[in-house]
Amino acid sequence: MKKTVICPGSFDPVTLGHLDVITRAAKMFDKVYVAVLVNSSKSPCFSIEERMELLGDAVNGLENVEIVSFEGLLAEYCREHEVNAIVKGLRAVSDFEYEFQMAIANKRLNPELETIFLTADSDSMYLSSSMVREIGSMGGDISNFVPACVHDRIVGKLTKK
Ligand code: COA
Repeated sequence: MKKTVICPGSFDPVTLGHLDVITRAAKMFDKVYVAVLVNSSKSPCFSIEERMELLGDAVNGLENVEIVSFEGLLAEYCREHEVNAIVKGLRAVSDFEYEFQMAIANKRLNPELETIFLTADSDSMYLSSSMVREIGSMGGDISNFVPACVHDRIVGKLTKK
């Protein structure tokens, strides 16, 4: 049976940590949706369209990866699109409680849906999109944090404000 997974997130903006998780998922599963979603507790810096475009360029060459966005519940989207599992990166123990809550809630909403955690690689353990935004907006070097092909566009947006 074809195995389809989804990597959800705000991706505001995409980082090398996200790309690492997406690339590893693409090797393990037949099809990977990368879903740019709304986290209602955050006010984004990049528009959904910008985030999708940056992600699309970052994953260029990964044939089985598709960038999507939708409003509403992740669990419902997975049911409608026959997604078998959510794949997320775990950076540190501090991620665990929140991720555990989301995994349980998604399973309650869609009992067929599994959540799979990949350990973040050691280079991404400390990374987050808000860290990239803060360093980039203050003129710091973010070249070790974001994919090279989208670096200039991210810097351009962060320093324009
Ligand atoms: N490498 C680098 N950074 C990573 C990472 C990795 N492997 N994994 C996560 N991060 C960062 C993210 O960039 C994010 O950084 P930020 O807080 O600075 O923006 C942070 O860790 C948290 O990531 P995550 O837990 O994935 O949160 P998110 O806001 O990116 O995504 C959604 C949360 C969008 C998946 C969730 O809100 C959702 O599913 N929304 C849809 C509506 C829904 O179904 N709600 C019910 C959920 S139970």
